[in-house]
Amino acid sequence: MPLLSAAIQRIKPSPTIAVTNRAAALKAAGRDIIGLGAGEPDFDTPDFVKEAAIAAIHAGQTKYTQVDGTPALKAAIAAKFKRDNGLDYGLDQISVNVGGKHTIFNAMMATLDPGDEVVIPAPYWVSYPDIVLLTGATPVIVACGIDAGFKLTPAQLDAAITPRTKWLIFNSPSNPTGAAYSRDELAALAEVLVRHPHVHILSDDMYEHIVYEGFEFTTLAQVEPALYERTLTVNGASKAYAMTGWRIGFAGGPAPIIKAMAKIQSQSTSNPDSIAQWAVTAALNGPQDFLIERNAAFAKRRDVVVSMLNQTPGLRCPRPQGAFYVYPDCSGLIGKRTPAGGTLTDDEAVAAYFLDTEGVAVVHGAAFGGSPAFRISYATADTVLEEACTRIQRAVGKLT
Ligand SMILES: Cc1ncc(COP(=O)(O)O)c(C=O)c1O
Repeated sequence: MPLLSAAIQRIKPSPTIAVTNRAAALKAAGRDIIGLGAGEPDFDTPDFVKEAAIAAIHAGQTKYTQVDGTPALKAAIAAKFKRDNGLDYGLDQISVNVGGKHTIFNAMMATLDPGDEVVIPAPYWVSYPDIVLLTGATPVIVACGIDAGFKLTPAQLDAAITPRTKWLIFNSPSNPTGAAYSRDELAALAEVLVRHPHVHILSDDMYEHIVYEGFEFTTLAQVEPALYERTLTVNGASKAYAMTGWRIGFAGGPAPIIKAMAKIQSQSTSNPDSIAQWAVTAALNGPQDFLIERNAAFAKRRDVVVSMLNQTPGLRCPRPQGAFYVYPDCSGLIGKRTPAGGTLTDDEAVAAYFLDTEGVAVVHGAAFGGSPAFRISYATADTVLEEACTRIQRAVGKLT
Protein backbone atom coordinates (compact mmCIF):
# COMPACT_ATOMS: atom_id res chain seq x y z
CA MET A 1 0.00 0.00 0.00
CA PRO A 2 1.59 3.36 -1.01
CA LEU A 3 2.30 5.77 1.84
CA LEU A 4 1.15 8.84 -0.05
CA SER A 5 -2.45 9.36 -1.07
CA ALA A 6 -3.66 9.48 -4.65
CA ALA A 7 -4.78 13.05 -3.93
CA ILE A 8 -1.32 14.26 -2.94
CA GLN A 9 0.16 12.60 -6.00
CA ARG A 10 -2.16 14.60 -8.25
CA ILE A 11 -0.65 17.91 -7.18
CA LYS A 12 2.73 19.66 -7.25
CA PRO A 13 4.34 22.15 -4.86
CA SER A 14 3.62 25.81 -5.64
CA PRO A 15 6.10 26.80 -8.40
CA THR A 16 6.20 30.43 -7.28
CA ILE A 17 7.22 29.39 -3.78
CA ALA A 18 9.79 27.04 -5.37
CA VAL A 19 11.36 29.90 -7.38
CA THR A 20 11.42 32.15 -4.32
CA ASN A 21 13.11 29.43 -2.27
CA ARG A 22 15.67 28.72 -5.01
CA ALA A 23 16.54 32.42 -5.29
CA ALA A 24 16.89 32.64 -1.48
CA ALA A 25 19.15 29.56 -1.43
CA LEU A 26 21.42 30.97 -4.15
CA LYS A 27 21.60 34.28 -2.30
CA ALA A 28 22.48 32.50 0.93
CA ALA A 29 25.25 30.71 -0.98
CA GLY A 30 26.73 34.10 -1.86
CA ARG A 31 25.36 34.67 -5.37
CA ASP A 32 24.19 38.16 -6.38
CA ILE A 33 20.52 37.40 -6.94
CA ILE A 34 17.57 39.64 -7.74
CA GLY A 35 14.36 37.82 -6.87
CA LEU A 36 11.36 38.90 -8.92
CA GLY A 37 9.44 35.73 -8.22
CA ALA A 38 7.56 36.47 -5.01
CA GLY A 39 4.04 37.83 -5.22
CA GLU A 40 4.20 40.24 -2.34
CA PRO A 41 4.45 44.00 -1.96
CA ASP A 42 7.79 45.28 -0.69
CA PHE A 43 5.93 47.95 1.31
CA ASP A 44 5.56 47.49 5.03
CA THR A 45 2.28 46.80 6.83
CA PRO A 46 0.90 50.27 7.74
CA ASP A 47 1.83 51.46 11.24
CA PHE A 48 -1.76 51.90 12.38
CA VAL A 49 -2.36 48.23 11.59
CA LYS A 50 0.70 47.12 13.54
CA GLU A 51 -0.43 49.26 16.48
CA ALA A 52 -3.83 47.57 16.45
CA ALA A 53 -2.11 44.18 16.67
CA ILE A 54 0.04 45.29 19.60
CA ALA A 55 -3.03 46.70 21.35
CA ALA A 56 -4.83 43.39 20.77
CA ILE A 57 -2.00 41.51 22.45
CA HIS A 58 -2.06 43.86 25.43
CA ALA A 59 -5.84 43.53 25.64
CA GLY A 60 -5.48 39.76 25.92
CA GLN A 61 -6.99 38.96 22.52
CA THR A 62 -4.77 35.91 22.41
CA LYS A 63 -7.28 33.10 22.77
CA TYR A 64 -9.37 30.99 20.39
CA THR A 65 -11.93 33.04 18.53
CA GLN A 66 -15.07 32.01 16.67
CA VAL A 67 -13.97 29.41 14.10
CA ASP A 68 -14.52 31.48 10.96
CA GLY A 69 -13.80 34.95 12.29
CA THR A 70 -14.58 37.38 15.09
CA PRO A 71 -17.85 39.30 14.88
CA ALA A 72 -15.79 42.54 14.81
CA LEU A 73 -13.80 41.44 11.77
CA LYS A 74 -16.86 40.07 10.01
CA ALA A 75 -18.58 43.41 10.57
CA ALA A 76 -15.55 45.23 9.12
CA ILE A 77 -15.60 42.89 6.11
CA ALA A 78 -19.34 43.41 5.61
CA ALA A 79 -18.74 47.17 5.70
CA LYS A 80 -15.88 46.81 3.20
CA PHE A 81 -18.03 44.81 0.76
CA LYS A 82 -20.74 47.45 1.02
CA ARG A 83 -18.37 50.42 0.72
CA ASP A 84 -16.12 49.14 -2.06
CA ASN A 85 -18.37 46.77 -3.99
CA GLY A 86 -21.96 47.72 -3.21
CA LEU A 87 -22.53 44.15 -1.95
CA ASP A 88 -24.68 43.34 1.09
CA TYR A 89 -23.54 40.37 3.12
CA GLY A 90 -24.87 39.40 6.54
CA LEU A 91 -22.38 38.09 9.09
CA ASP A 92 -23.57 34.54 8.36
CA GLN A 93 -22.46 35.11 4.76
CA ILE A 94 -18.85 35.92 5.64
CA SER A 95 -15.95 33.55 6.22
CA VAL A 96 -12.52 34.54 7.55
CA ASN A 97 -9.65 32.20 6.80
CA VAL A 98 -5.88 31.77 7.01
CA GLY A 99 -5.09 33.78 3.85
CA GLY A 100 -6.92 34.02 0.54
CA LYS A 101 -5.44 30.71 -0.53
CA HIS A 102 -7.12 29.03 2.42
CA THR A 103 -10.42 30.73 1.56
CA ILE A 104 -10.30 29.23 -1.93
CA PHE A 105 -9.15 25.88 -0.57
CA ASN A 106 -12.05 25.68 1.90
CA ALA A 107 -14.58 26.69 -0.75
CA MET A 108 -13.39 24.01 -3.15
CA MET A 109 -13.13 21.32 -0.45
CA ALA A 110 -16.65 22.18 0.68
CA THR A 111 -18.25 21.89 -2.74
CA LEU A 112 -16.33 19.66 -5.15
CA ASP A 113 -16.61 15.94 -5.81
CA PRO A 114 -14.75 13.76 -8.32
CA GLY A 115 -16.29 14.33 -11.75
CA ASP A 116 -17.15 17.97 -11.10
CA GLU A 117 -15.54 20.49 -13.42
CA VAL A 118 -14.10 23.91 -12.66
CA VAL A 119 -13.48 26.39 -15.47
CA ILE A 120 -10.18 28.23 -15.01
CA PRO A 121 -9.03 30.86 -17.53
CA ALA A 122 -5.29 30.69 -18.24
CA PRO A 123 -2.82 32.17 -17.50
CA TYR A 124 -4.06 31.41 -13.98
CA TRP A 125 -2.85 31.83 -10.44
CA VAL A 126 -0.78 28.71 -9.77
CA SER A 127 -2.87 27.31 -6.94
CA TYR A 128 -6.28 27.12 -8.64
CA PRO A 129 -5.79 23.90 -10.64
CA ASP A 130 -3.96 22.11 -7.87
CA ILE A 131 -6.58 22.93 -5.25
CA VAL A 132 -9.23 21.60 -7.64
CA LEU A 133 -7.16 18.47 -8.35
CA LEU A 134 -6.76 17.78 -4.65
CA THR A 135 -10.54 17.43 -4.34
CA GLY A 136 -10.66 14.93 -7.21
CA ALA A 137 -12.55 17.36 -9.45
CA THR A 138 -11.31 18.35 -12.91
CA PRO A 139 -9.89 21.75 -13.86
CA VAL A 140 -11.03 22.85 -17.33
CA ILE A 141 -8.37 25.24 -18.54
CA VAL A 142 -9.33 27.89 -21.10
CA ALA A 143 -6.36 29.53 -22.83
CA CYS A 144 -6.59 33.33 -23.04
CA GLY A 145 -3.75 34.63 -25.16
CA ILE A 146 -1.77 37.81 -25.25
CA ASP A 147 -3.72 39.11 -28.27
CA ALA A 148 -6.96 38.90 -26.27
CA GLY A 149 -5.27 40.86 -23.47
CA PHE A 150 -5.15 37.55 -21.55
CA LYS A 151 -8.91 37.85 -21.05
CA LEU A 152 -11.64 35.23 -21.25
CA THR A 153 -14.24 35.96 -23.93
CA PRO A 154 -17.95 35.23 -23.50
CA ALA A 155 -17.79 32.70 -26.37
CA GLN A 156 -14.89 30.85 -24.72
CA LEU A 157 -16.75 30.76 -21.43
CA ASP A 158 -19.90 29.47 -23.05
CA ALA A 159 -17.98 26.72 -24.85
CA ALA A 160 -16.18 25.61 -21.66
CA ILE A 161 -19.35 25.11 -19.59
CA THR A 162 -20.78 21.58 -19.45
CA PRO A 163 -23.52 20.02 -17.27
CA ARG A 164 -20.68 19.03 -14.86
CA THR A 165 -19.37 22.58 -14.40
CA LYS A 166 -19.65 23.57 -10.76
CA TRP A 167 -17.49 26.68 -10.66
CA LEU A 168 -15.83 29.34 -12.70
CA ILE A 169 -12.75 30.64 -10.91
CA PHE A 170 -12.32 34.20 -12.04
CA ASN A 171 -9.51 36.61 -11.14
CA SER A 172 -9.28 40.30 -11.97
CA PRO A 173 -6.87 42.04 -11.77
CA SER A 174 -4.99 38.92 -12.60
CA ASN A 175 -2.04 37.19 -11.14
CA PRO A 176 0.06 36.55 -13.29
CA THR A 177 -0.84 38.93 -16.16
CA GLY A 178 -2.18 42.04 -14.42
CA ALA A 179 -5.14 41.99 -16.85
CA ALA A 180 -8.14 43.78 -15.37
CA TYR A 181 -11.68 43.39 -16.72
CA SER A 182 -13.82 46.47 -17.27
CA ARG A 183 -17.42 46.64 -16.11
CA ASP A 184 -18.58 46.03 -19.70
CA GLU A 185 -16.35 42.99 -20.06
CA LEU A 186 -17.72 41.57 -16.82
CA ALA A 187 -21.28 42.26 -17.94
CA ALA A 188 -20.67 40.31 -21.16
CA LEU A 189 -19.35 37.31 -19.19
CA ALA A 190 -22.22 37.64 -16.71
CA GLU A 191 -24.69 37.40 -19.56
CA VAL A 192 -23.32 33.92 -20.34
CA LEU A 193 -23.33 32.90 -16.66
CA VAL A 194 -26.95 33.97 -16.24
CA ARG A 195 -27.82 31.42 -18.94
CA HIS A 196 -26.11 28.62 -16.97
CA PRO A 197 -27.72 28.69 -13.52
CA HIS A 198 -25.88 25.59 -12.27
CA VAL A 199 -22.49 27.34 -12.43
CA HIS A 200 -21.13 29.03 -9.32
CA ILE A 201 -18.58 31.80 -9.52
CA LEU A 202 -15.55 32.27 -7.33
CA SER A 203 -14.47 35.85 -7.94
CA ASP A 204 -10.93 36.27 -6.65
CA ASP A 205 -10.65 40.01 -6.05
CA MET A 206 -7.35 39.89 -4.20
CA TYR A 207 -5.87 42.73 -6.29
CA GLU A 208 -8.96 44.94 -6.19
CA HIS A 209 -7.11 47.90 -4.74
CA ILE A 210 -4.04 47.69 -6.95
CA VAL A 211 -5.25 49.34 -10.16
CA TYR A 212 -3.91 52.16 -12.30
CA GLU A 213 -4.94 55.15 -14.42
CA GLY A 214 -8.26 55.51 -12.64
CA PHE A 215 -9.34 51.99 -13.60
CA GLU A 216 -12.75 51.36 -12.03
CA PHE A 217 -12.69 48.00 -10.24
CA THR A 218 -15.96 46.07 -10.30
CA THR A 219 -16.81 42.50 -9.35
CA LEU A 220 -19.24 40.03 -10.93
CA ALA A 221 -21.90 39.91 -8.19
CA GLN A 222 -22.00 43.70 -8.27
CA VAL A 223 -22.18 44.03 -12.06
CA GLU A 224 -24.90 41.39 -12.39
CA PRO A 225 -27.04 41.11 -9.25
CA ALA A 226 -28.63 37.93 -10.65
CA LEU A 227 -25.31 36.21 -9.92
CA TYR A 228 -25.20 37.27 -6.26
CA GLU A 229 -26.89 34.06 -5.08
CA ARG A 230 -24.19 31.86 -6.58
CA THR A 231 -21.07 33.96 -6.30
CA LEU A 232 -18.38 33.68 -3.67
CA THR A 233 -16.54 37.00 -3.57
CA VAL A 234 -13.01 36.38 -2.28
CA ASN A 235 -10.61 38.99 -1.01
CA GLY A 236 -7.98 39.44 1.68
CA ALA A 237 -5.51 41.63 3.44
CA SER A 238 -2.32 40.25 1.89
CA LYS A 239 -1.83 42.44 -1.14
CA ALA A 240 -3.62 45.74 -0.53
CA TYR A 241 -2.47 46.13 3.06
CA ALA A 242 0.96 44.52 2.59
CA MET A 243 0.03 41.82 5.11
CA THR A 244 1.15 38.63 3.37
CA GLY A 245 2.66 37.18 6.54
CA TRP A 246 -0.36 37.82 8.73
CA ARG A 247 -2.43 35.27 6.82
CA ILE A 248 -5.96 36.62 6.62
CA GLY A 249 -8.28 36.05 3.67
CA PHE A 250 -12.04 36.22 3.54
CA ALA A 251 -15.12 35.68 1.42
CA GLY A 252 -18.70 36.83 1.17
CA GLY A 253 -21.23 34.51 -0.39
CA PRO A 254 -24.17 32.13 -0.04
CA ALA A 255 -24.73 31.11 3.61
CA PRO A 256 -24.73 27.34 2.91
CA ILE A 257 -21.26 27.53 1.33
CA ILE A 258 -19.97 29.77 4.13
CA LYS A 259 -21.32 27.33 6.73
CA ALA A 260 -19.69 24.37 4.98
CA MET A 261 -16.38 26.23 4.84
CA ALA A 262 -16.62 26.82 8.61
CA LYS A 263 -17.20 23.09 9.11
CA ILE A 264 -13.94 22.30 7.30
CA GLN A 265 -12.11 25.00 9.21
CA SER A 266 -13.46 23.65 12.51
CA GLN A 267 -11.81 20.33 11.73
CA SER A 268 -8.54 21.72 10.39
CA THR A 269 -7.02 25.08 11.34
CA SER A 270 -9.75 26.34 13.71
CA ASN A 271 -9.79 30.13 13.83
CA PRO A 272 -7.28 32.29 11.96
CA ASP A 273 -4.73 33.96 14.25
CA SER A 274 -6.59 36.13 16.76
CA ILE A 275 -4.09 39.00 16.68
CA ALA A 276 -4.04 39.09 12.87
CA GLN A 277 -7.82 39.29 12.89
CA TRP A 278 -7.68 42.42 15.07
CA ALA A 279 -5.01 43.89 12.80
CA VAL A 280 -7.14 43.33 9.69
CA THR A 281 -10.19 44.76 11.46
CA ALA A 282 -8.16 47.95 11.89
CA ALA A 283 -6.90 47.83 8.30
CA LEU A 284 -10.41 47.59 6.86
CA ASN A 285 -11.93 50.17 9.19
CA GLY A 286 -9.02 52.61 9.04
CA PRO A 287 -7.87 55.22 6.52
CA GLN A 288 -7.47 53.88 3.00
CA ASP A 289 -5.61 56.81 1.42
CA PHE A 290 -2.16 55.18 1.59
CA LEU A 291 -3.36 52.79 -1.12
CA ILE A 292 -3.35 55.62 -3.68
CA GLU A 293 0.21 56.59 -2.80
CA ARG A 294 1.41 53.02 -3.08
CA ASN A 295 -0.37 52.51 -6.39
CA ALA A 296 1.41 55.55 -7.80
CA ALA A 297 4.73 53.92 -6.88
CA PHE A 298 3.65 50.61 -8.43
CA ALA A 299 2.54 52.33 -11.65
CA LYS A 300 5.92 54.01 -12.02
CA ARG A 301 7.71 50.72 -11.57
CA ARG A 302 5.43 48.99 -14.03
CA ASP A 303 6.24 51.61 -16.65
CA VAL A 304 9.99 51.18 -16.17
CA VAL A 305 9.76 47.41 -16.50
CA VAL A 306 7.38 47.42 -19.47
CA SER A 307 9.52 49.93 -21.32
CA MET A 308 12.81 48.13 -20.70
CA LEU A 309 11.40 44.71 -21.58
CA ASN A 310 9.85 46.01 -24.78
CA GLN A 311 13.26 47.36 -25.77
CA THR A 312 14.61 43.81 -25.51
CA PRO A 313 14.55 41.93 -28.82
CA GLY A 314 12.48 38.74 -28.54
CA LEU A 315 10.27 40.00 -25.71
CA ARG A 316 6.79 41.50 -25.96
CA CYS A 317 5.35 42.97 -22.80
CA PRO A 318 1.78 44.28 -22.48
CA ARG A 319 1.16 47.15 -20.03
CA PRO A 320 -1.32 45.88 -17.47
CA GLN A 321 -3.89 47.93 -15.57
CA GLY A 322 -3.68 46.13 -12.25
CA ALA A 323 -1.81 43.93 -9.76
CA PHE A 324 2.00 44.15 -9.62
CA TYR A 325 3.01 41.69 -12.31
CA VAL A 326 4.00 41.84 -15.95
CA TYR A 327 3.82 38.83 -18.19
CA PRO A 328 6.12 39.24 -21.18
CA ASP A 329 5.80 36.83 -24.08
CA CYS A 330 9.21 35.30 -24.87
CA SER A 331 8.42 33.31 -28.01
CA GLY A 332 11.18 35.29 -29.73
CA LEU A 333 13.75 33.63 -27.46
CA ILE A 334 12.65 30.05 -27.95
CA GLY A 335 15.15 28.07 -30.03
CA LYS A 336 18.00 30.53 -29.36
CA ARG A 337 21.44 29.25 -28.34
CA THR A 338 23.07 30.22 -25.06
CA PRO A 339 26.82 31.05 -24.80
CA ALA A 340 27.26 27.74 -22.95
CA GLY A 341 25.94 25.89 -26.01
CA GLY A 342 22.47 25.05 -24.74
CA THR A 343 19.18 25.74 -26.50
CA LEU A 344 16.26 27.62 -24.94
CA THR A 345 13.60 25.03 -25.65
CA ASP A 346 10.83 26.49 -23.49
CA ASP A 347 10.08 29.24 -20.97
CA GLU A 348 11.40 27.16 -18.10
CA ALA A 349 14.76 27.12 -19.89
CA VAL A 350 14.53 30.90 -20.41
CA ALA A 351 13.89 31.47 -16.68
CA ALA A 352 16.73 29.10 -15.74
CA TYR A 353 19.05 30.93 -18.17
CA PHE A 354 18.25 34.32 -16.60
CA LEU A 355 18.91 32.91 -13.14
CA ASP A 356 22.10 31.06 -14.01
CA THR A 357 23.75 33.77 -16.11
CA GLU A 358 22.54 37.00 -14.53
CA GLY A 359 21.06 36.00 -11.19
CA VAL A 360 17.55 37.23 -12.01
CA ALA A 361 14.75 35.03 -10.69
CA VAL A 362 11.48 35.12 -12.64
CA VAL A 363 8.72 32.50 -12.82
CA HIS A 364 8.28 30.63 -16.11
CA GLY A 365 4.90 30.90 -17.82
CA ALA A 366 4.22 27.16 -17.88
CA ALA A 367 3.65 27.41 -14.11
CA PHE A 368 0.65 29.64 -14.89
CA GLY A 369 -0.59 27.65 -17.87
CA GLY A 370 0.49 30.29 -20.41
CA SER A 371 3.64 29.71 -22.49
CA PRO A 372 6.09 30.85 -23.68
CA ALA A 373 6.24 33.73 -21.22
CA PHE A 374 7.44 34.57 -17.75
CA ARG A 375 6.14 36.54 -14.82
CA ILE A 376 7.94 39.40 -13.18
CA SER A 377 6.72 40.75 -9.88
CA TYR A 378 7.61 44.44 -9.88
CA ALA A 379 6.81 44.97 -6.21
CA THR A 380 10.39 45.91 -5.49
CA ALA A 381 12.55 49.07 -5.50
CA ASP A 382 12.89 51.04 -8.78
CA THR A 383 16.68 50.74 -8.83
CA VAL A 384 16.51 46.98 -8.32
CA LEU A 385 14.00 46.67 -11.15
CA GLU A 386 16.16 48.71 -13.50
CA GLU A 387 19.16 46.57 -12.65
CA ALA A 388 17.12 43.38 -13.16
CA CYS A 389 15.89 44.52 -16.59
CA THR A 390 19.40 45.56 -17.58
CA ARG A 391 20.59 42.08 -16.68
CA ILE A 392 17.77 40.49 -18.68
CA GLN A 393 18.72 42.65 -21.65
CA ARG A 394 22.35 41.59 -21.26
CA ALA A 395 21.39 37.91 -21.03
CA VAL A 396 19.23 38.18 -24.16
CA GLY A 397 22.04 40.04 -25.94
CA LYS A 398 24.31 37.01 -25.53
CA LEU A 399 21.91 34.63 -27.28
CA THR A 400 22.48 33.58 -30.87
C1 LIG B 1 -4.79 35.81 -7.34
C2 LIG B 1 -4.45 35.45 -5.94
N1 LIG B 1 -5.41 34.94 -5.17
C3 LIG B 1 -5.15 34.58 -3.91
C4 LIG B 1 -3.90 34.73 -3.37
C5 LIG B 1 -3.69 34.26 -1.96
O1 LIG B 1 -3.28 35.22 -1.10
P1 LIG B 1 -2.92 34.90 0.41
O2 LIG B 1 -1.48 35.25 0.57
O3 LIG B 1 -3.83 35.79 1.21
O4 LIG B 1 -3.19 33.47 0.68
C6 LIG B 1 -2.87 35.23 -4.15
C7 LIG B 1 -1.50 35.32 -3.63
O5 LIG B 1 -0.52 35.31 -4.32
C8 LIG B 1 -3.16 35.61 -5.48
O6 LIG B 1 -2.21 36.12 -6.27
